[in-house]
Amino acid sequence: SNLLPPTLLPERLTSRHTAMVSPAIALAFIPFVVTLLIRYRHYFCLFYRAVLVRRVRDYLTGIPKEERAFQYILTHTIPGDPQHILETFDHWSYHCEYLSNLGPQKAKILERLIYEKSPLRVLELGTYCGYATILIAQLLPLGARLYTVEMDDRKAAVAEKVIRLAGFDDDTLIRGPSQEVIPQLKEKYGLSHVDFIFMDHWKRCYLRDLQLLEAHDLLLEGATIVADNIIFPGAPHFMQYFVQTRHTHDIRDVSVINS
Ligand SMILES: C[S@@+](CC[C@H](N)C(=O)[O-])C[C@H]1O[C@@H](n2cnc3c(N)ncnc32)[C@H](O)[C@@H]1O
Repeated sequence: SNLLPPTLLPERLTSRHTAMVSPAIALAFIPFVVTLLIRYRHYFCLFYRAVLVRRVRDYLTGIPKEERAFQYILTHTIPGDPQHILETFDHWSYHCEYLSNLGPQKAKILERLIYEKSPLRVLELGTYCGYATILIAQLLPLGARLYTVEMDDRKAAVAEKVIRLAGFDDDTLIRGPSQEVIPQLKEKYGLSHVDFIFMDHWKRCYLRDLQLLEAHDLLLEGATIVADNIIFPGAPHFMQYFVQTRHTHDIRDVSVINS
């Protein structure tokens, strides 16, 4: 009943066709994949170092990455010397394991802004291991006060040790999510206002926390707000808010690099 010659049977056509076309399609994708790899090599490297290597080492050592970094800092740094601690962090981060610290390049920008503004009430959102905290603390004028907020207990524990090692009061660190801490700043921590804010926590919290600070009347007129990574990965709603409301606050972005 089949009138087609055997070689033209649809099943035969499909299997032979697939066998010939699959490598061709795969080959056609190679330039695309290579271009992607070259174009986004920094992100692939970052993913490899920050996620894959970290997971393997966490598993093998049973110690979290931030604690491993602290053990290195403790044995390689000069206690009471914040600058040396920062350099030791940079060395570890560059040569051993990636840490999402501010890093030396962005640190220079933050440093310049602190010198320029000489703020008296500073708030950092997102402490991590305390890198930017000790950077800021060492630059503040006499009588200034710094608070830093970290919601992750394990990171906060490392940050407390780093802050103490650098010779600063660890009561500068407030544990908890920013959305819970900000409403308590006045009453619980006696912070009547802030004139310099360093936002370096999750980008999606930037706008919400800025509005919270405003709602609780914590922002001094002309306060400086430094926000990291608002260009990439970006915080478009946060930026839009500034443009739309023509804010009086001085906003800077320290996002010169994103690695
Ligand atoms: C990029 S790291 C901060 C780096 C730090 N500023 C430095 O330069 O060393 C971001 C930190 O923000 C914390 N974080 C994220 N969202 C937060 C929130 N809503 N409240 C408090 N901490 C938060 C994370 O747990 C993480 O440790």
